Amino acid sequence: MIELAEVTKTFGNKVAVNNINLNIKKGSITILIGPSGCGKTTILRMINRLTPYDKGDILINGTSINNIDPVELRRNIGYVIQEIGLFPHLTVFENIAIVPRLLKWEQKKIEKRVKELLDLVTLDHSFAQKYPLQLSGGEKQRVGIARALAAEPEILLMDEPFGAIDPINRLKLQDSFLEIQEEIEKTVVFVTHDINEAIKLGNKIAIVNNGNLVQYDEVVKILNKPVNEFVENLLGKDRNLKALSLKKTKDLITKDGFITVSNIESHEKVKEKMIKKDVFIAFALNENDHLKGRFLLEKEQGIEKLRLIYNSAPWIIERQNNLNEALSKMLEAGEKELPVVDRRKKFVGVIKLSNIFEEFKKNKTF
Ligand SMILES: Nc1ncnc2c1ncn2[C@@H]1O[C@H](COP(=O)(O)OP(=O)(O)O)[C@@H](O)[C@H]1O
Ligand SMILES: [Mg+2]
Repeated sequence: MIELAEVTKTFGNKVAVNNINLNIKKGSITILIGPSGCGKTTILRMINRLTPYDKGDILINGTSINNIDPVELRRNIGYVIQEIGLFPHLTVFENIAIVPRLLKWEQKKIEKRVKELLDLVTLDHSFAQKYPLQLSGGEKQRVGIARALAAEPEILLMDEPFGAIDPINRLKLQDSFLEIQEEIEKTVVFVTHDINEAIKLGNKIAIVNNGNLVQYDEVVKILNKPVNEFVENLLGKDRNLKALSLKKTKDLITKDGFITVSNIESHEKVKEKMIKKDVFIAFALNENDHLKGRFLLEKEQGIEKLRLIYNSAPWIIERQNNLNEALSKMLEAGEKELPVVDRRKKFVGVIKLSNIFEEFKKNKTF
């Protein structure tokens, strides 16, 4: 899909990118990682022709980008950067609509697309009329992603998109991004200097140092067989635990051992159903499948008692959380199983501590 063949870029006498070969598969997320100044941004900017290269070639679907009209090329490539660069005097709607307007889409089509995109990045439609100043960092970043996707590009280039976001919101954005990617399956090149982010998001990781490509492999391979000390140091000491973060909650979701009920159902009815199905846990969902509470059926002196644990659900795990994240939430909550929701907060099942431990044992061979 995207091919870099012996690409070199020099600024004055500084070699920023040195003879790099990269083959990027359609629909995958490729991470570029390496120290500051190693050439990551330059690689991205060469792909959308913001920076010309000196040697080698970059091909998209087999065609040299030098043979593609730059405007056409950039229409097909969404670009998301850290300082998102939303226009402050334009509303969220107008910001997202920039490219569709340039393409002279009909107003109706633009309105429909903006709504779709707000849904995709889970921002309420009321955000359309807000100005960037009224948004949090995470919200701005979501708008940035929506804007980059507006004209349905095939390719998405992301340059440290979550770099300026606080750690908790960064994890949330990563989860959302993975869910969005599952839906849109773009070819993504994603720059970061955070190895955990790289392992979490990447299908493949390209490790760059000083303009040179040090290793380019599937994430598991990188963790298993770092090619040299530079990569080992980048990965850090806890490689085993990191391997656990390769698996996601969604890989271990189970639907056994509980039932779901409506949150407006009577306790009597709930109890009856639980006894009939022979389960001890029932999750109460509202009409949107949002989790509203959890019932436990307990036996006290031979009598079955129903207990409502919480009305709003503080301990929930997101589908895209990796097993490391799920594990720490369980330890924090002191629960052996926790409900799982998707990015629209819909309940999708349960993850169990015992299943995570099984995975951990498997990974010990890493
Ligand atoms: N426009 C430019 N003019 C001169 N030097 C540049 C320019 N852009 C980048 N560089 C240099 O190229 C190298 C790689 O930069 P960059 O790609 O921005 O690194 P990274 O994104 O990995 O931090 C750095 O040494 C940087 O100073
Ligand atoms: Mg950079």
